[in-house]
Amino acid sequence: MNTEPTKELVAQRCINPDCAAEFPIDRVLTACERCGEMLDVCYDWDRAWPESERGFEVFARRGSTFSPSAEERSAAGADHTRGGSTESMLDFSGVWRFRELLPFWKMSAHGASDIVTVGEGRTNLQRADAVACEVGMDVENGGRVYLQYEGFNPSGSFKDNGMTAAFTHARMVGAKQVACASTGNTSASLAMYAALTGMRSLVFIGEGKIALGKLSQALDYGARTLQIAGDFDACLARVREIASDRPELGVYLMNSVNPFRLEGQKTIMLRILEGLDWRVPDWIVVPGGNLGNSSAFGKAFMELRMLGLIDKLPRLAIINAHGARTLDRIVNEQGITWNGGRYDRDRVASEFARMDEAGERASTIASAIEINRPVNLPKALRALSIMDGVVRSVDDNVIREHKALVGRFGFGCEPASGASVAGVRLLREEGVIGADETVACVLTGHQLKDPDVTVGYHTGVGEKAPPVGFDGAWANAPIRVADDLEAIVGAISGA
Ligand code: F0G
Repeated sequence: MNTEPTKELVAQRCINPDCAAEFPIDRVLTACERCGEMLDVCYDWDRAWPESERGFEVFARRGSTFSPSAEERSAAGADHTRGGSTESMLDFSGVWRFRELLPFWKMSAHGASDIVTVGEGRTNLQRADAVACEVGMDVENGGRVYLQYEGFNPSGSFKDNGMTAAFTHARMVGAKQVACASTGNTSASLAMYAALTGMRSLVFIGEGKIALGKLSQALDYGARTLQIAGDFDACLARVREIASDRPELGVYLMNSVNPFRLEGQKTIMLRILEGLDWRVPDWIVVPGGNLGNSSAFGKAFMELRMLGLIDKLPRLAIINAHGARTLDRIVNEQGITWNGGRYDRDRVASEFARMDEAGERASTIASAIEINRPVNLPKALRALSIMDGVVRSVDDNVIREHKALVGRFGFGCEPASGASVAGVRLLREEGVIGADETVACVLTGHQLKDPDVTVGYHTGVGEKAPPVGFDGAWANAPIRVADDLEAIVGAISGA
């Protein structure tokens, strides 16, 4: 990563080292205007967060802050629709209490009071010994699995971490209409923040490709919801066209090609470190879809090391679903690496062309990560290089089992998130993760997002049920019983 300070306090910079073009942050861009590569938000850290003020202690003190009362907020003019936010609202947010690490808001006309926050990111890191034992960790000898429970966010997924940052930028540039393509969670989160801030929201979803819990959120929050006769990849291509080629519509794009969104998602890593008393785990494991998270995590650790706050980096494991394993193929079969920013762009392009020609479409029960053309691929390659990462994929039945495993021990997540725990087991079996290591898995979405998959797993019934013959290790079907006392007693005491 190019860590040279920018001349500005904050700028957007092309990640291609041979270009490295910079753009002011009041521009709404989702790619470099000069070469088409992705953009980072970059800072002159010496000015943005001077060395003498740096340290994790600042954050720790804020973490315990109680939410300000509704009266206190309104007395301070802190109303989401007007954009005001008070210091204590920022401290309450699990994103903005780390505001020194995403200081682009300092360029806002009204400073921190322009930040859009609903108290997102108050998620926690749970030690999960029972899960750890199940996936092959040696808990007796210090092996640990921690679950970073992002389903606790207001819209039920990690997306709120990114949306709060992107909406802050959208407000800074005066956006009126925001849009995204989505497998569901992005649209739910976008629609929620748009409703709260009074912006118009437009979401593009693939027909039949989104879990009902998520669709219901977008509808309830009042988003104009376009069900496109295509998949996520098609939706994203269309919404990008609309945002860049139809300026008259004034659409501000909220997908993770928006570099400001990833600034917010960096804070998931801060909360993991905080949960470990600022010790760095051996591994971060995350499901990979559009690869925004992995990209943000790589940037977070790179910056933390550069700022002198940590001296060791965790390794990164990105877990694809088998039916959407483009990254796995690109990294493990084609051997493509970041290569200091000079990754083999032609081979990536020809792989995408081959997929198109063959009519290959993503297909997995984990609809959140049913993506064939991850737009953050370059940044994810960078993250893999920064964090000495690995990529694996797991099949749908394995995803089902691990989602159920997480639920069985009292945590709960949606299918895509189960992929990360499945990835830990796989990497343990391969010996890549050591039995005594410390692993933090990101549970990206709430258990209630996709009840069809959950009920299908436990009952074997319904469109999302596993294939016939699949015998779920944790399946727990309801017991049908007559409305009769003795029959009920029998059912209660039965095996
Ligand atoms: N897990 C969940 C629950 C998700 O919703 C997503 C992405 C991912 C993992 C993958 O994250 O893209 O950062 O690699 N959902 C997007 C959406 C694509 O539209 O909601 P990623």
